[in-house]
Amino acid sequence: MSEVIKQQIRELLGQHNAVLLAHNYMRDEVQEIADITGDSLALSIEAAKTDADVIVFCGVHFMAESAAILSPGKKVVLPRPDAGCPMADMVTVEQLEQLRAQHPGVPVVTYVNSSAEVKAHSDICCTSANALKVVRSLKEEELIFVPDRNLGRWVAKFVPEKKFIFWDGYCPTHERMTVSAVLQKKAEHPDALFICHPESAPEVSVLADHVCSTSGMYDYCSTSPATKFIIGTEAGILYKLRLDNPGKEFILASPALFCPNMKLTSLEDVLLALQTLEPVVSVPEEIRVKARGALDRMLAIPRD
Ligand code: 13P
Ligand code: SF4
Repeated sequence: MSEVIKQQIRELLGQHNAVLLAHNYMRDEVQEIADITGDSLALSIEAAKTDADVIVFCGVHFMAESAAILSPGKKVVLPRPDAGCPMADMVTVEQLEQLRAQHPGVPVVTYVNSSAEVKAHSDICCTSANALKVVRSLKEEELIFVPDRNLGRWVAKFVPEKKFIFWDGYCPTHERMTVSAVLQKKAEHPDALFICHPESAPEVSVLADHVCSTSGMYDYCSTSPATKFIIGTEAGILYKLRLDNPGKEFILASPALFCPNMKLTSLEDVLLALQTLEPVVSVPEEIRVKARGALDRMLAIPRD
């Protein structure tokens, strides 16, 4: 049955000149059918440069919004409009403006896990892959970092010369990965390296051999001479890690690493979205232009 659906999806993608983007946390079968999989940074870059008329975004709402901000002439379809990100909802424009008023002239660095409105009220965006570079690119000594307190604190360790004003947001999925769960896995697999995402709590990331974005994990694990890894991020990442590294072993650090929003999108949802070209995600032009400024400043920073 799923082969029939996949075939229908492929046909409709061709008919609509559509591209299917999928985040690294999507269900295995959605990643399998996607034209491009990646982390938030890679998917933003793809959304900005694609020639397709339609972008079908398999991810969560803020990612589809970023695609709509970066590709105004294209239709951006999010198969599950109820796929949100609780961390993105932890900061509003009103709250951010209140904080800004308390720190006049201090630039705001906003993690892409945020609404278009919040991006529009920011100086520059960042993803987990480029947050350190973004912070280093600022001439100011002080900065406001929203909404992820964990990513902010992880970056701050590498730039002691900067003064951070943190927001108290966090990813509930990564925060469910506890120190005791990680220590237990380390005890069960003493020969494994522990790799985690910077959205993890500081007491967990301090236990890691390497901390990086989801795509950073693919690069690290495929080039590392090690053969066994404990993975501290959402379970969806295991699909491609295992596919691309058949001789290596990957162990999830905690069974709690499951993002309910990232798991909503099914192949049936993708098919329906391609049949109807709905639901469309769009951003009002005034907000889009301002948010684009913050994303463009981020994208102007060269990748490694
Ligand atoms: P990256 O894929 O950019 O590392 O992001 C992780 C995440 O939580 C996306 O929601
Ligand atoms: Fe948001 Fe965390 Fe889910 Fe990513 S994994 S979408 S940050 S709740």
